[in-house]
This record gives sequence, C-alpha cells and structure tokens, in this order.
Amino acid sequence: MPLAPTFDTSKLPPISDGLEGIVVAETVLSDVQGAAGRLTLRGKSVEELAETGSFDSAVEHLTRDLLPASAPAQVSLAEGRSLAWEQIGVLRAADSDLSAFEMMTIGLAALPSSAAGENSLMLAGALSVFLAGGYRLKAGLEPIAPDATAETAADLLRMLTGSVPPAAHVAGLNRYLTTVLDHGLNASTFAARVIASTNAGAKAGLLGAMGALSGPLHGGAPGPVLDMLDAAQNSGNVRAWIGGELRAGRRLMGFGHRVYRTRDPRADVLKTGLAALSKDSGRVALAEEIEREALSALALHKPERKLDTNVEFYTAVLLEAIGIDRSLFTPLFAVGRAPGWCAHMAEQQAKGRLIRPQSRYVGP
Ligand code: ACO
Repeated sequence: MPLAPTFDTSKLPPISDGLEGIVVAETVLSDVQGAAGRLTLRGKSVEELAETGSFDSAVEHLTRDLLPASAPAQVSLAEGRSLAWEQIGVLRAADSDLSAFEMMTIGLAALPSSAAGENSLMLAGALSVFLAGGYRLKAGLEPIAPDATAETAADLLRMLTGSVPPAAHVAGLNRYLTTVLDHGLNASTFAARVIASTNAGAKAGLLGAMGALSGPLHGGAPGPVLDMLDAAQNSGNVRAWIGGELRAGRRLMGFGHRVYRTRDPRADVLKTGLAALSKDSGRVALAEEIEREALSALALHKPERKLDTNVEFYTAVLLEAIGIDRSLFTPLFAVGRAPGWCAHMAEQQAKGRLIRPQSRYVGP
C-alpha cells in the first residue's frame, strides 16, 4: 500500500533545474554581474586586484576580518605550506597513476584536522606543497621544501621547477590565481558552503569543494582547452573542425557560462597578462583565431543563448606560456580558489543555518 505523503508535494514551489536564479546566501565577498560582464571582489574590480598586487595581497583583501586568523594572509598561507611539508611523506606512498589533483586531495585529507585550528587559510596554503610535491613525485623527482618567507606564486613555481622562477612567470601566475580567487556561488563554493553548514570543518569543506571543481563543466576545462587548440590546429582547418565538434554534439571548452551572458571579464584580465609572457606569438594567434571562429559558430549554433569566452580559455593559454604542464591546470585552480572557499565557509558558519533544500517525489 502506498505511503501517505507527509506533506502536499503539489504545494512545493516549481523546481529550478541547476538552481538557476535561486538566491541562497548573502555575501560580502564577490559580486558577479552576468549581464554587464563585471566581477567585483569585496569592493574592488577583478581588473584592479589582478593589476595591482600579488595573489597573497588579494587573499588579504578578500578575507580581512572575516577569518579568525590574526596573522596576515601571506603568513597563514606560508604556515600552511610548512604544515604540508611535514606530511609530504603520505604522497610517497600514493599510487603514481593518481592525477596531481588526486594527490592534492590525499595530502589535504592526511593533515590532522586540528592542525590548522581555526585558521582555515593554512589548509588553503598547504595545497601548493601537495601540488608541487605530487607532481614531482609522479615525475620521479624529489619534492622541494617550501620557503616560508616567499609569497604563494613564486614559491609554488620554485617548488615545481627547482629553480628561481623568472619575474614574468611569477607575475603571470599571480594574475591567474588572483583572477580565480572568488566568483559568487559557483558549484564548488556552494558545495563548500553546504558542507560548512553542517559544521563538518574546513578540511571537509575544502575536500568537497575540490570534488565539485574537478568536473569538466567547472574547473576541469582548461586542460581540454589546450587539447582543443591542438586538435583544431592539427586538423588544418579550424572552422571545419569547430563545425564538426558542434554537429557531433560536443561542447567547445572555454566557452559558455551559467551566469555571464557576455564575455567573462576574467578572460580579458588573463589575455592582457599573456602579452607580457608569451614568446610563442603563433600559439596566441592560433588561440585568437579559434576564439573568433568558435564565437561565430556558437552564435549560429545557439542563437537564443549568448555563449561567449569564459575564464578557462585564456587560463589555458596563459598557464601554457608560463610553462606549466596541462595536468596541473585544475590543481592550480584549486590553489587560487581555496581561500575564497575558506571565506565563504566562514560566512556560512557565521550564519549558522543548515542548508537543506527539498526534492519533489515523483516515484512510485
Ligand atoms: N559549446 C557548445 N554548446 C554549448 C556550450 C559550449 N561551450 N555551452 C553551452 N552550450 C549549449 C548547451 O549544450 C545547451 O544546449 P541545449 O539547450 O541544446 O542543451 C545550451 O548551449 C545552453 O547551455 P547553458 O544553459 O548556457 O549551459 P549551462 O549554464 O548549463 O552550462 C557551462 C554552463 C557548463 C559552462 C557550459 O557552457 C559548458 O559546458 N561550457 C564548456 C565547458 C567549460 O568551458 N567549462 C568551464 C566553465 S567556467 C568555470 O567553471 C570556471
């Protein structure tokens, strides 16, 4: 005999697939203006933040007075790198077939939950060491110890390559990490807030957010963007290749966005950074040609839905110009976004309300 429903499901509000248009939190952290193509982080435009300071100073700007840490953000992030270094041994035991991203989650999961105390930024800082150490171990190389006096971008590049990075590379990586620091209630940030609302702690929130970020519809796109550039170039006919992809029902990586109905402002911040970096002008010209062709093909493919360039497209070209392996693009995204996740989790916990929506039962 069917069970009587405990409440009248027909009185539930209509479903919003993908929660589009649903507002579930107030935040002082970032404002994504989808129609205008504007991104503001705690009162500063993303352009201003990325042009005028380092990633560590952008984290300071975003998190000031929101996190319990009394130390400046740079110090907390560096302390997190030292903490991670004490645990680097867990990565030696990990299967080398695991991706660099999976290695990072193993390192983070292995940190004692109490290690960072209330200072979740230390957990965010720890990710750089697990990224670089995991990558080197997979390549048969020894991990390199962090330098607590350095800032995140310079130290990360040094821990990856083993040598002092060129200033242009450090500037490019600072620009990238700052650009992705926070972005409203994207899927991974929402995941972090859901977990924070259960009081599960910052480590659990960061691990859950990383799982959400890893998907190709979110942070997993920039590696495939380079695969797309390669395939389009090798085809010998960019326009025909793009048309073939769309006819086959495949998505063009680096285009489209849930919120932006115009160009993602972060795409231009990254493209500007590329000018100071890339010695391979052929690669940049190819990217520009593919972008042009993709935009006109997408306009014909989905005339009712404006699909424009998103952050991932020039992320891929910029990180490639810095010499970073494409397998590290999504892990780097996590390094840049993690302080944003921490700030959102702190906001959510201050709110103190469990996130618990409803589903409409349509089964037997
Ligand atoms: N290439 C081809 N078609 C696309 C693309 C694309 N890049 N993006 C959207 N479409 C199509 C969809 O298939 C959909 O078609 P349908 O109505 O026939 O099913 C239609 O356009 C409308 O899609 P949206 O509702 O705008 O897409 P949604 O908001 O669900 O997804 C997303 C946004 C996931 C970013 C999507 O545009 C996409 O898959 N892009 C490619 C992957 C990518 O670049 N990811 C990185 C996103 S940026 C970030 O997360 C940091």
